[in-house]
Amino acid sequence: MMVCKRACVVVLGDVGRSPRMQYHALSLAKEGYNVDIIGYSGSAPHSDLLFSSKISFHYMNPSPSFISILPQFILYFLKVMWQSWFLIWTLFWIPKPNFYLVQNPPSIPTLPICWFVARIHRAQLAIDWHNYGYTIMGLTLGPNHVLTRVSHFIEAFFGRFAGINFCVTKAMSQDLHQNWGVCATTLYDRPAEIFRPISLFEKHELFLKLGKDYHEFSSSRPDDTLLTERFADGQVRLREDRPGLLVSSTSWTEDEDFSVLLDALDEYELNRSVNSSDYPPLMCVITGKGPLKNYYTNLIQTKHWQHVEICTPWLDPEDYPKLIASADLGVSLHTSSSGLDLPMKIVDMFGCGLPVCAIGYNCLKELITDGQNGMIFKTAGDLADKLLAWFHGFPRDNEENRQFYRRQLKVYQSLRWHKEWCKVALPLLSHNN
Ligand SMILES: *[C@@H]1O[C@H](CO)[C@@H](O)[C@H](O)[C@H]1NC(C)=O
Ligand SMILES: *[C@@H]1O[C@H](CO)[C@@H](O)[C@H](O)[C@H]1NC(C)=O
Repeated sequence: MMVCKRACVVVLGDVGRSPRMQYHALSLAKEGYNVDIIGYSGSAPHSDLLFSSKISFHYMNPSPSFISILPQFILYFLKVMWQSWFLIWTLFWIPKPNFYLVQNPPSIPTLPICWFVARIHRAQLAIDWHNYGYTIMGLTLGPNHVLTRVSHFIEAFFGRFAGINFCVTKAMSQDLHQNWGVCATTLYDRPAEIFRPISLFEKHELFLKLGKDYHEFSSSRPDDTLLTERFADGQVRLREDRPGLLVSSTSWTEDEDFSVLLDALDEYELNRSVNSSDYPPLMCVITGKGPLKNYYTNLIQTKHWQHVEICTPWLDPEDYPKLIASADLGVSLHTSSSGLDLPMKIVDMFGCGLPVCAIGYNCLKELITDGQNGMIFKTAGDLADKLLAWFHGFPRDNEENRQFYRRQLKVYQSLRWHKEWCKVALPLLSHNN
């Protein structure tokens, strides 16, 4: 008789914006598990999840915005109580799973509550460590704030109780082991299938579509776009006079300092205005939404550049991979709060075969080999130099250099999430079940 295998995936955040937990859920479903996902609604999850008959979503009620005259500590306490109640209620409502797979962070109240429910249900608890919750809290509250310290304590205490641990880098695995004695298996993020190179025709269609909402991408001829042109015979080609297309995505939070990119573009603008035949104009597309977006769009509006344009469009989820696949260079300004996790957006860019210029921190070399598949920079001036070098002679001259980077990414592109997951995660998760 077939035994019904069940898994419960818990992420105390917007499920649609938690790609890695979505990939876990998809892989579990592919391997025959019925999956319950608990989290918050918000952005639409990947359509493969929505259409899967094996995956059910259980959305929790977000905590109300309690009266903000209360002290911060009490506000936080009320929020945690609210979340705890809904989490416990949902965890007991759904059928008992073989194991709980929990994203950390956030750690509170997820870790204590999932540990508690797993004990009662005699189910396994697996934690997927993406980062440390307390270091993220430390960014806003300061590392010595009492909430940061309480959070650190709870994370370290309950983090030790999970039977299975995954994490995102070797550096994090070492750190977990050294500090908390947790043995975690490194499961690298891999690009989903949708992040792949696309044809010229698909690029053309994308820019036609974007041009409807963002005039920057359109051209005076209705059949053409800023970057592509269609000839009478129906053939699509890249325009010789196209700008360099730079892309970056961000959640506009404190751990990404976009002024670094703006300063670098300032410098690019200056150099291009003097030596205009050496460099193309730049179109810089920044996607994503988040708390600091308004602050930066106001800052961008104060720039009156002639040679650089910035567009911050809202993209349909299926257009984002296409945009990356159409770009000439990706930029990552992600600095990790713990220095132990890797930016998912670089993984996605690599999946599309797009070389990336990324701000450096200690474990980034687990993903980027400087001068091979990407470039690592430290300061805005550094980034400006790399942009100038990359786009020198674009699109005609120096193409060999740009192709060299793209060739280095071929191997990476062939390693996909599900295969890696089956090799690394499945044996641990299916053991004892
Ligand atoms: C312009 O190009 C010349 C020759 O390549 C170089 O020496 C000079 O520094 C450049 N100036 C700027 C502002 O880019
Ligand atoms: C860019 O311009 C600065 C002066 O404004 C110059 O020192 C530098 O060499 C230029 N960079 C390149 C790559 O031409």
